[in-house]
Amino acid sequence: MEWLHISVLLEELVSSIKIEKNKQNIIVDCTLWLAWHAKKIIEKLNPWDIFVWFDADIRNLELAKKVLENIRSDIKIVLINSNFVNLKSELEKVWIKNITWIYYDLGISSLHVDEAERWFSFKLDWPLDMRFDTSIWFPASHIVNTYKEDELIRIFREYWEEPASRKIAQNIIEKRKSWFKFKTTKELANLIDECIKFPKAKNRIFQSLRIETNKEMETLEKSLKDAINLLSPWWTIFVISFHSLEDRIVKNIFKDESRDCICTDLICTCKHKKQIKILTKKPIIPTPEEEKTNPRSRSAKARSAEKL
Ligand SMILES: C[S@@+](CC[C@H](N)C(=O)[O-])C[C@H]1O[C@@H](n2cnc3c(N)ncnc32)[C@H](O)[C@@H]1O
Repeated sequence: MEWLHISVLLEELVSSIKIEKNKQNIIVDCTLWLAWHAKKIIEKLNPWDIFVWFDADIRNLELAKKVLENIRSDIKIVLINSNFVNLKSELEKVWIKNITWIYYDLGISSLHVDEAERWFSFKLDWPLDMRFDTSIWFPASHIVNTYKEDELIRIFREYWEEPASRKIAQNIIEKRKSWFKFKTTKELANLIDECIKFPKAKNRIFQSLRIETNKEMETLEKSLKDAINLLSPWWTIFVISFHSLEDRIVKNIFKDESRDCICTDLICTCKHKKQIKILTKKPIIPTPEEEKTNPRSRSAKARSAEKL
């Protein structure tokens, strides 16, 4: 089966990998999906290396397994069906305490938008769920049916800057007064249409809900901090993000982890230790050619850092 997914910043990611020829490299792909990135990287590994693959979505992981079948049997592959927020604890389970290279290609896969039971889009009528991993946390319907008005406004504004946030939140609360429970994407999409005629509003509200449902900001922050701690000196982290909120988290964490201690006391009390050197003063962005062949790449930004 052919899947419609073109990897973003593939060459840039692959060319940034460092491989030691005489040591064991332990590489982590935090967002495997169809493994387009992983397929290129696997070719570069030594027979004794370890390649760890994370995906929160079990179906994506199963598909990737098929894609990668028989590619290489001489390296150790560890498949982990978990959110990358659990990076540290999941690696501990397989006795991995240090890693030599880690990368993230954030966001959703085309499958998430295209397939009916998968919920991210409002173009068809399906359960208002939106979880990458349906075994954890609550579906998006829980947010729409239980959050207070100001909490709804906060997520619509903070995550996707929807100008009609207040009106949409108020209408959701009004609808709930008659004991109505939102169960499907269509029900929410219809309500947004009734509030505002601007079609982008639906995109923004659905994106905000996806971010809140999957706790995308908190999970990214924790995972990046753990990744930096787990990296061995000299090795690197590479992160591809697709919207400004994600990029801001990456940028701020890199900035914080690369700064010196700013204690004014003679003896440091803040315990801050500079951990990384930023390798990308400005983010890497796709070339005009890539943007032309893959319009999805337009919003991509990549940042990389090296452990000290
Ligand atoms: C943009 S796709 C990755 C594409 C992949 N690099 C490739 O080359 O085919 C993102 C993938 O990450 C997964 N994902 C998103 N957030 C995640 C998280 N917090 N933890 C683990 N996997 C996540 C999604 O299920 C999806 O399969």
